[in-house]
Amino acid sequence: MQDVLLTVSLGLLASCMMATSNRDSPGSAQTAATLRQAAGDRVLIGTAIMSHHLDDPRLADLVARQFNSLTGENEFKPASLQPRPGEFTFDAADRLADFARQHDMKLIGHTLVWHNQAPKWMFEDESGQPLPRELALENLKHHIDTVVEHFKGRVVGWDVVNEAISDREDEYLRDTPARRAIGDDYIARAFEFAHAADPDVELYYNDYSIEQPNKRKKTLRLIRELQAAGVRIDAVGIQGHWLIDGPETQVIDDAIAAYASLGVKVMITELDVDPLPRRRGAGADLSAIEREGLDPFKDGLPDEMQRKLAERYREIFLVLMKQADAGTLTRITFWGTHDGTSWLNNFPVRGRTNHPLLWDRELSPKPSFHAVIGVLSTPAGAR
Ligand code: XIL
Repeated sequence: MQDVLLTVSLGLLASCMMATSNRDSPGSAQTAATLRQAAGDRVLIGTAIMSHHLDDPRLADLVARQFNSLTGENEFKPASLQPRPGEFTFDAADRLADFARQHDMKLIGHTLVWHNQAPKWMFEDESGQPLPRELALENLKHHIDTVVEHFKGRVVGWDVVNEAISDREDEYLRDTPARRAIGDDYIARAFEFAHAADPDVELYYNDYSIEQPNKRKKTLRLIRELQAAGVRIDAVGIQGHWLIDGPETQVIDDAIAAYASLGVKVMITELDVDPLPRRRGAGADLSAIEREGLDPFKDGLPDEMQRKLAERYREIFLVLMKQADAGTLTRITFWGTHDGTSWLNNFPVRGRTNHPLLWDRELSPKPSFHAVIGVLSTPAGAR
């Protein structure tokens, strides 16, 4: 009985998607059925999931059909992979790696060094004091060696360091446990350790709001310093946690061009568009939790907002695909798959009902999906 139900619902899902395939958007010739078909080999199109999402066959099917790249939303982070010294737990991440391989999806490792979701012992002693540099470096190297080697040949690229640039106007690098213990060169060392562990794997620097002029300037400086020191860096990942009304697409366009001018590839690594009101503006600083916040769309996104969100996705994708066609942007990854799994239901305010992605909670494609696939399906000259 369950199998029958499953078959019927998968069938419905498939026909839904076929219906999508025949829908033309303005200016496009023929819209493809899935994002990965529409993107072809011009750009990787990814999603971030957790391994338990694969327990839901409808969701697993949608992920495999729509995307050709996969990022572990949490399960490749240091706290997941090495919760206690020397105790590595790879099961959840391996499950994602197997799924990616089965469905011919490029797997991204997120992340080797970050100040969140990282075990304290790696860079601090029990009283919270920084470990001596040599010990911290040893911990960093052991983590990177073990993890990068474990996923050799399966992960195509690592977010080696995540969010190292300070949000403060007057500060270059963020004050983090790794930096306090090792010094500013913890970033370069992490890239070197990763490269030594797997010379074939791509190495990325990943951060939020680095399309904005202030953080952009500092990120350009970081890339230049790494390059001048002879450290391999392949790409910069702009997270892309954006709002319905900002940043302006010109800012995104300019930032991609600026990074590309340094000879690195650019990727949008954690795309979502937040339609809910925020008190403190854009960004993805996990410590910036707002205690209260309006939750105006608990019962669903009104049509007018759906249209606005779709229009916003359209304008973003017009810029991204222009850059992809120019060879500067090589991947666009959504942070989540459907609205029900988005981290924005809990950030920056816990427990809201958010609607930032391309599928709703029933896994129906939203107007935003049609907007995105419409742009992906339209040849450069016809956009
Ligand atoms: C988020 C996950 O989506 C959440 O499930 C988790 O509770 C916190 O981290 N920038 C990043 C991601 O680089 O790793 C974060 O992911 C979102 C912000």
